[in-house]
Amino acid sequence: MKIIETIPQLREELRKYKAQGNTIGFVPTMGYLHQGHLSLVEQSKKENDRTVVSIFVNPAQFGPGEDFDRYPRNLEMDERLLKELAVDVVFYPAVKEIYPGGYATYVEVGKWGNVLCGKSRPTHFRGVSTVVLKLLNIVSPTCAYFGRKDAQQAIIIKKMVKDLNLEVTIHTIPIVRDPDGLALSSRNANLSPEERKVALSLSRALEKAKTEIAHGLRDASAIKDLIRKEIDKYPLVTIDYVEVVSLDALEQIKTITLDNTLVAGAIWAGKTRLIDNFTLGEI
Ligand code: PAJ
Repeated sequence: MKIIETIPQLREELRKYKAQGNTIGFVPTMGYLHQGHLSLVEQSKKENDRTVVSIFVNPAQFGPGEDFDRYPRNLEMDERLLKELAVDVVFYPAVKEIYPGGYATYVEVGKWGNVLCGKSRPTHFRGVSTVVLKLLNIVSPTCAYFGRKDAQQAIIIKKMVKDLNLEVTIHTIPIVRDPDGLALSSRNANLSPEERKVALSLSRALEKAKTEIAHGLRDASAIKDLIRKEIDKYPLVTIDYVEVVSLDALEQIKTITLDNTLVAGAIWAGKTRLIDNFTLGEI
């Protein structure tokens, strides 16, 4: 496994793979890897001759006062996990490699970036789309892999790829959870034991909503109320948002359909913001 820090060195390595006719799978991450990330890597390994993983905590997707400095980092642990999966290349650039002095160009994602997580993180998806576009241009992979835990992100990336005619196939991978149901997240490392317990409120509430939908409930505002009530049972948790939107346009819907619905929420457990969702229909 090669660890490469610069764009020219990465391009040189990738040129060799491409000259051999190899397909390339790409998994962009911000590191502090867990089984959620590794499931993307495993899928890429299955479907491609070569797999490239990037580890880059992207400052452009953190707003002022957000947790860029507090974001967990551990390259040694990440290297060990990726080596075990026999990844070909880890791209680990410094911030100035991606955003050299005078950097000025950003991707705008319009209304898609202003809803759900974008309401409380107004520049987040601009930062995500910009770095993902740059990474896709640097790696030129055959396929790239994204988790459904970040459903809005996956939807926005797919839209960007379509709108900007990028030659890459985007695959989305199911949410990986701890045995008690909490969606795995690098940020879970920042939870105190007490916060870890109440962090479960979101996945529990979503599970309950899913059951009610299975029993026939279709009213989106009733589902939102039910989720809010469930979360409110837990102390120390505050709700950022609970939304029911269409999967294909991220627009609020009144009636749940079984093929085009995203039910998503974000909570604060102490200083840590956590997200979770389920979908009816494919991203
Ligand atoms: P990061 O949070 O490190 O996540 C990297 C990828 O892993 C994303 O596609 C995310 O959806 C996926 N992932 C995280 N937790 C998961 C889980 N529990 N189950 C399944 N997949 C999971 O998302 C980012 O980084 C960044 O925004 C990035 C795309 C790298 C751009 O900077």
